[in-house]
Amino acid sequence: MARRKPGEGQTALITGASAGIGVDLAECFAKDGYDLILTARSQGPLDEVAARLKATYGVNTHTIAQDLGAFGGGSAVAAAIAAKGLNVDVVVNNAGYGHAGALTSSDLPTQLGMIDLNVRALVELTYLYWDRMLANKRGGVLNVASTAAFQPGPLMANYYASKAYVLSFSEAMWEEARDTGVNVSCLCPGPTKSKFRERAGTDKTKLARDGAPVMSSAPVARAGYEAWKRNRRVIVTGGRNAFQAGMVKYLPRETLLKIVRNIQSPQ
Ligand SMILES: NC(=O)c1ccc[n+]([C@@H]2O[C@H](COP(=O)([O-])OP(=O)(O)OC[C@H]3O[C@@H](n4cnc5c(N)ncnc54)[C@H](OP(=O)(O)O)[C@@H]3O)[C@@H](O)[C@H]2O)c1
Repeated sequence: MARRKPGEGQTALITGASAGIGVDLAECFAKDGYDLILTARSQGPLDEVAARLKATYGVNTHTIAQDLGAFGGGSAVAAAIAAKGLNVDVVVNNAGYGHAGALTSSDLPTQLGMIDLNVRALVELTYLYWDRMLANKRGGVLNVASTAAFQPGPLMANYYASKAYVLSFSEAMWEEARDTGVNVSCLCPGPTKSKFRERAGTDKTKLARDGAPVMSSAPVARAGYEAWKRNRRVIVTGGRNAFQAGMVKYLPRETLLKIVRNIQSPQ
């Protein structure tokens, strides 16, 4: 008899699953037998990812096109899931975007939308499925923050702050879930190949010019997934990123602010 895969009979909801890290996260869950609910705004790419993973791993896949930055976007996704008669065991809050530059270098909706997507939708989806996870004593939440979460980010202030929120929230929920059977992890990638950098403009900063290594999205996702399976509280991808994130607490705050301002400056 074939051995049961760890995710069989469970469903993972993955946000931002039409591109980048989210696609690779979806693949990690599918490989372990989880059925998938994939969401993002773009229906076409979602359908392509869903069809490929279903064909490769034989899992059930569903797609929901929704702007999670819209007010109530998380609840709209949950309503669509309920209407399909599905349940969610694992929430992977991956969708997010950033904007490099001074606060007023983009319009207000771009700045506030970052909070709506990176923070508000993440809390909303966690809230909606949390009690069910606790009652079932299984599943959990994998939140995608960033190495930006470990310090304030002059010239990308709102994005760094949004990711600091994600890290803080995730660690607190990890503690709340202690001994419940529910896993909570916060994945903190450094620069990663995806559409993010172009959209955010981080490919034009001194950090990008000075050769900060850019990881592929597949190993980033795998590291996050493996960490989540072991209920690791926080995972920073890449040795250099982990070292830098660990050093932050030893630097005087004003020195740190100057360093970050410098690396976030345009080339
Ligand atoms: N790449 C990096 O260097 C890096 C570093 C650290 C952390 N991260 C974090 O990693 C996560 C994934 O980013 P990525 O690098 O994979 O970027 P990406 O390639 O731009 O993918 C972002 C995903 O989020 C979805 N998304 C964007 N806006 C959305 C909205 N309003 N509603 C619903 N879905 C939306 C996108 O799909 P649609 O456009 O179809 O909606 C896409 O599926 C983000 O939280 C990001 O902050 C990335």
